[in-house]
Parts: sequence; C-alpha cells; structure tokens
Amino acid sequence: MAAVAPTRDGVALVPRHVAVIMDGNGRWARARALPRQAGHKAGIAPVRLMVEQCAQAGVETLTLFAFSSENWRRPPAEIGALMRLFVEALKREVAELHENGIRLRFIGDLDALGPELNTAIGHAEALTRDNRRMDLVLAVAYGGHWDLAGAARRLAEEVEAGSLESADIDESRFADMLATRDLRPVDLLIRSGGERRISNFLLWDIAYSELYFSDVLWPDFSAGDLEAAFAYFAQRQRRFGRTSDQVVGGGAAEEQQ
Ligand code: IPE
Ligand code: IPE
Ligand code: MG
Repeated sequence: MAAVAPTRDGVALVPRHVAVIMDGNGRWARARALPRQAGHKAGIAPVRLMVEQCAQAGVETLTLFAFSSENWRRPPAEIGALMRLFVEALKREVAELHENGIRLRFIGDLDALGPELNTAIGHAEALTRDNRRMDLVLAVAYGGHWDLAGAARRLAEEVEAGSLESADIDESRFADMLATRDLRPVDLLIRSGGERRISNFLLWDIAYSELYFSDVLWPDFSAGDLEAAFAYFAQRQRRFGRTSDQVVGGGAAEEQQ
C-alpha cells in the first residue's frame, strides 16, 4: 500500500475502491476466429495484472464483475466453460494471491454456482481472510437488482420479526443489508469493451463513482489502460453535491456516506 496516499482538496487521488466491468472477451475471440471461451481464458491475464497494479498503487478494494445475473441467459456451453474456468483459475491463483497479501471475497447469488465452485470459494475466503494489503471482491452471479431486492426482503423480515421499526429504515440501515455492506462506496468504475452502460452491476454503491469507459477489449486491457483510468480519476473534482468553491475551500472531502 502507498505510504502516504496523495490527495487534492482533501480527496484521495488514488481511488480507494475500484470496480471493473470486464467486457469484450467474446468480441476479442471472434476477431481471431476463436470460440468465445478462448476470449474468457485470455481475460484472466489482465485480471492478474490489474490485481497487482491496484495493490501497488494503494487501492484498498478492487471489485471485479465476472458473471452477472443476466449472464445465465447465455448458451449452456458458454456458461459451463465459464464456470470451469472460474474453478480452475481460483484453484491455480489462490496461493499466489495469498502470498501477495490479497483478501478474497465473493458477492452474488453463490448458491446458484454449484458445489465445486462453492468449495473453492469457501477455501479461498478462509485462507485469505486475515490478509490486509488489498481486498479483491469477485462479483459472480451478481446483479444490482438482485442485491437491492435482497436488502429490501431482509429489512421486511426484520420488521415482520419485530426487531426493526419501518420508521427506522434509513440509508445506512438499507446499505447494511446489501451484499456490499462491508465495502466502501466505489470511487472509480471502469468498463472495458466499448459499451457505456452499467449492465446491472453495483447500483447503490456507484451513486457517486467516477465513470471511466474504455474501448479496449478486456483481454487486451493493459497496465497503460489502467494508468489512463487512474489519470482520469485524478483529474476529477469530486463535489458530492457541494459547490466547487466549497470543495476547494476544503471540507467536502469524504462526504459520501
Ligand atoms: C465479458 O465478456 C465476460 C462475461 C460477461 C462473462 P463478454 O463475453 O460479454 O464479451 P463480449 O461483450 O461478447 O465481447
Ligand atoms: C457485463 O457484461 C457483465 C460482465 C462483464 C460480467 P455483459 O456483456 O453481460 O453486458 P451486456 O449484456 O452487453 O450489457
Ligand atoms: Mg459483453
């Protein structure tokens, strides 16, 4: 982690929480007349690169969108190949991630993933739970709507059980019910692959994120591309609703939540 995180107007220049929509694997493969699965496989190298580079830069949390709720609509063969790839990559990479001080976390409808992947997830989370250098959060079978609906359901259950008054439901209590409850808000959201949309990734958590869209297809995403995203972030003035003068005068800093 960086010794002293550089700031401007009291706000960190290095994003503390980076979230990435890793898109473009299929198009990368098609451009090479390869099966889509080859694109997913080629998408692992930039994940390694990004984890190392973010940890080096002092990022505290890196959340990667690996598989969305809606990706279940893909052909079964592609889903099967992706799940196999997740299990293999996890088993292969977990020891090195652990050595590098990375704590692994998974968010999403994990019950839908099957026993083999869940076993690997349980092992990876247990092994790395005391690591502090950087949190790597993998969103698998994750959807922003799934998360918000789950939070509403859990609140309703508490009200039903009599342990919560509906009048006491506020933003903080709502956030406490999300799968992302332990994560700080996203500072920088990056999407590769050319689309300018969120595709049901984190919704609550990106309320005040800076958004960076890259046309580079995910398997080609390089250290330089991440540097460009960081440079973009460092140029933003984060106001969180205040005026520019207020921000420069100090005080708007860590206003969000
Ligand atoms: C992102 O790449 C990976 C997953 C959604 C699992 P895509 O597979 O969506 O690649 P494109 O968008 O078809 O190129
Ligand atoms: C978003 O990509 C999901 C992941 C990167 C895991 P998609 O390829 O599924 O998004 P859409 O369908 O083009 O919006
Ligand atoms: Mg896509």
